[in-house]
Amino acid sequence: MPRIVILPANRAAEVPAGELLLAAGEAAGVELEAGCFNCSCGTCVVEVVSGMSNLDAPTAEELEVLDQWNKDPDRYRLACCVRLRHGEVVVRQSH
Ligand code: FES
Repeated sequence: MPRIVILPANRAAEVPAGELLLAAGEAAGVELEAGCFNCSCGTCVVEVVSGMSNLDAPTAEELEVLDQWNKDPDRYRLACCVRLRHGEVVVRQSH
């Protein structure tokens, strides 16, 4: 099962493969900030500290929103858009 670690709280949880990052945060006991829940506002941006390759690749829609916020998609992802596939992913809350 994939594992999520949320910094700076350092809370962790194991979640089913395919779980949304936003829901994985909730499973770890951390409410990640979100607005649209629809991959369009950018409120839910988080920094991926490690495990980027354990996440789905970004969609064109996600890349567009990250670009609007000047966030490098190699370091930042939108928690409402991306799903965990395997292994450990460590993210840092931006808000
Ligand atoms: S909550 Fe709006 S992009 Fe994620």
